[in-house]
Amino acid sequence: MTYSLAVRFNNLFEIVSKKGINMSADQDILVTIEQHIMSISFNRPEKKNAITDAMYHQVSDAMKQAAEDDDIRVVLFTSEGDDFTSGNDIADFLRNDINIKEAGVGRFLQALRSFHKPIVAAVKGSVVGIGTTMLFHCDFVVAATNSVFAMPFVPLGLCPEAASSLILPKLAGHQLASELLMLGEPFDAEKADKIGLLNRLVDKREVKLQALALCQKISALPVESVLLTKKLLKMPGTDIGDRMQTEVRHFTRLLGQPAAQKAFQSFLSK
Ligand code: COA
Repeated sequence: MTYSLAVRFNNLFEIVSKKGINMSADQDILVTIEQHIMSISFNRPEKKNAITDAMYHQVSDAMKQAAEDDDIRVVLFTSEGDDFTSGNDIADFLRNDINIKEAGVGRFLQALRSFHKPIVAAVKGSVVGIGTTMLFHCDFVVAATNSVFAMPFVPLGLCPEAASSLILPKLAGHQLASELLMLGEPFDAEKADKIGLLNRLVDKREVKLQALALCQKISALPVESVLLTKKLLKMPGTDIGDRMQTEVRHFTRLLGQPAAQKAFQSFLSK
């Protein structure tokens, strides 16, 4: 990170705090939009950013807006204070008045799973429960070296969620996935990196800036190509022949589009 980049992004944060759609300091979720990037920040540091039912609903509302607004190209998940999140609010788990069908967590996971634009996460400190499993649905993860991940579902008498029992074995292999999901013990950023969960491992002072730099890089790319690439990456099915044909179909169509034509001309005129 160069000094000028850091200054530029600090300025960006100043602008963001003026233009955000929800910047009241007493909000548990802060949402800001700037330069095609929607930033969704967990802001409950006194509770390690534990996520309540109301917070899940607020995040889901923001994601709905981001999905529908063509001006928003990337979503950044970030946090205030020292931690990303300590996961689901345990007091909420104890309440029995939440209708599971209408619970915010279900809406949030559905929004994550079906979100068609790139998602970047900037994590640090405690990254617990859904704090870790939501990362399986992000496209880029920038983590601070002080991050501590954990999926303590089984010790809490629960079981894996967010399709982590499907996705983690593919990333980490069956044995490591069993260890992380059954024992539920904390693991450090180095281990998360080794599993393949992280894109960047950086100092905690740089995590938000590096994630924003990544968001800017993504938002400057040809939008249709980015969206299509995410769609292809998430497309189920294992048949290589079918996938090649699908790719060729889209590739051929994109060849004639203005974004590609502009890129070719720009290269050839150098
Ligand atoms: N739900 C509700 N409250 C939580 C919380 C959670 N998931 N995580 C932390 N808090 C609260 C604590 O109760 C405490 O509140 P208090 O100050 O009113 O007593 C405050 O946040 C600070 O937490 P504390 O445990 O003192 O911080 P720590 O640095 O010692 O430990 C954690 C941090 C994340 C390791 C620890 O808080 C923890 O294990 N939390 C639970 C994680 C969890 O099991 N989540 C559910 C996953 S499914």
